Amino acid sequence: MDAPASGTPEEEIERERSQISAALERIRRAPSLEDLEAEKVALLGRRGFLSEKLRALGALPPAERARVGARLNDHRADIEREISGRRLALKEEGRERRLRAAALDATLPGRGRRPGAVHPLSRAIDDIVRLFQARGFVPVDGPEIEDEEHNFTALNIPPEHPARAMHDTFYLPDGRLLRTHTSPVQIRALEEQGPPLRILAVGRVYRRDADVTHMPMFHQVEGLWVDDRVTFAGLKGLLTDVLRAFFARELPVRFRPSYFPFTEPSAEVDVGCVFCEGAGCRVCKGSGWLEVLGSGLVHPALYRRLGIDPERWSGLAFGLGVERLTMLRERVSDIRYFYDNDLRFLRSPGGESYVCD
Ligand code: DAH
Repeated sequence: MDAPASGTPEEEIERERSQISAALERIRRAPSLEDLEAEKVALLGRRGFLSEKLRALGALPPAERARVGARLNDHRADIEREISGRRLALKEEGRERRLRAAALDATLPGRGRRPGAVHPLSRAIDDIVRLFQARGFVPVDGPEIEDEEHNFTALNIPPEHPARAMHDTFYLPDGRLLRTHTSPVQIRALEEQGPPLRILAVGRVYRRDADVTHMPMFHQVEGLWVDDRVTFAGLKGLLTDVLRAFFARELPVRFRPSYFPFTEPSAEVDVGCVFCEGAGCRVCKGSGWLEVLGSGLVHPALYRRLGIDPERWSGLAFGLGVERLTMLRERVSDIRYFYDNDLRFLRSPGGESYVCD
């Protein structure tokens, strides 16, 4: 780009003018901000075209110096004007390009959003809690990590008692365990509140068990009502009402003598089979009945251990499995469906829709 120091002054001025107009043209066509910057350095930078020329001014006679200097200043002004014009244009182009890339295509089909819904187990728990709350039961919580005392011993299941073997227990290295049922909450409530009380405990329980009707973790609801005139008739009325409300039909309900270490007498509660209406089918194994929960009157041994007078107080207790009750109500054939998060399943029970997108 350096002008050769030859030719007449007119020729030199002409060459300079054409170099400048070529440079201005390059500026106007600079494809990017980086190219523009490179062009600016080549023209106006410390070692650029104009700086070299300005440096040469010193060697000129004063009269000429003023003329040439003025001309070079005009060139500088032209160059700076073109550069800032081009810079603005490039920035604007970039902005447009980015906006176009992010543009919304309003003609694309929507992704579809379905309304969410409550998981069938949560729905069953909500129903059960509501039904018992309406009958005066107050929800309480207990720990999922329990000690043997609360999970077994205080419930009249001493060490070596065969009932301990009925629960396939997960033990922790320190001797504590994952509660195998919600019944320990009965003990905690009696310890903390004492009678009279009417509590309901909902929560996770754990057993080493897994097949189509068993999971190593499942949910139970435990109820305990201790007062001075609680009777077995009251227990029957309460559970019959709640079961019929839960299944939303006038199911037959029967109380069958059974055994639990923490109740006396004890009863297992059956409802008429919801699949065959009592005629006998595969699910009820031909009996027409489905077992749905365990219950009884609180064993005096529990009171005595806690210093509560068994002559003064009487109590009813019950425990039910949420998954089992829900499987029967929603006709679910495999307990694992509840935990697979398969939307085809989650959308179907109760005809509810589940979140999907
Ligand atoms: N805890 C028992 C179980 O897990 C269920 C049960 C039976 C709870 C009778 C009770 C009851 O409160 O009275 O198998």
